[in-house]
Amino acid sequence: MMALRVVGVLAGLSCVLCQGQNNLPFLPKPPAPGPCPLVPVVNNFDLQRYLGRWYEIERFFNPFQNGECVTADYELFPNGTVSVINTQISEGELDSISGFAELGPNQSEGKLVVDFPFSEGSFSPDGVPNYIVVATDYSNYAVVHSCTYLGPELKLEFSWILAREPNVPASFLMALKEWLKIVNIDASRYLPTLQTPYCPRRQV
Ligand SMILES: *[C@@H]1O[C@H](CO)[C@@H](O)[C@H](O)[C@H]1NC(C)=O
Ligand SMILES: *[C@@H]1O[C@H](CO)[C@@H](O)[C@H](O)[C@H]1NC(C)=O
Repeated sequence: MMALRVVGVLAGLSCVLCQGQNNLPFLPKPPAPGPCPLVPVVNNFDLQRYLGRWYEIERFFNPFQNGECVTADYELFPNGTVSVINTQISEGELDSISGFAELGPNQSEGKLVVDFPFSEGSFSPDGVPNYIVVATDYSNYAVVHSCTYLGPELKLEFSWILAREPNVPASFLMALKEWLKIVNIDASRYLPTLQTPYCPRRQV
């Protein structure tokens, strides 16, 4: 299962990379070799306050995402499962993908297991948290990190800067990235996500 998913990931990666030569303003920076970085995690995580809509401000290059105007909507089902609906605009169309998330074994930490059942974008075959909330104040911003180590030369490492508004002050973003570098996140890998007042939005 894992191998199949990895092959899917790599196929997606090479394909997006070849398109990227034409579409991206600059080529994404690949991850450094070696193990996943040790990153901080939010303690006393308050899932209730984390729910709702987040706008993607920046992201590491990743082969599952090529759209703009990206949002993530988190809602809690009565059984404690979190509904995850990621939406982007791709080729002018609203494109949503639905998944589920659950808190990891230590529920006081901002670590979740996120799974998208019907896509290749499922990187947690063994139930290990794959969505680490590195920092958030719940009402303005959040930083998420995900890393799967596949061998000395290969890891799948992603990170997203999210905000409650479609844009954040540049000075805030700069200060946040300075801090992220200190806590082992290669902030030079973030690429901005286009967010404009004209972005079509999924209704919630
Ligand atoms: C929780 O409830 C949702 C919505 O009814 C359902 O889709 C999901 O499968 C449930 N999860 C579990 C673990 O039972
Ligand atoms: C859960 O995580 C917190 C914060 O990292 C830690 O202080 C606590 O000991 C952990 N609890 C368990 C049961 O491991």
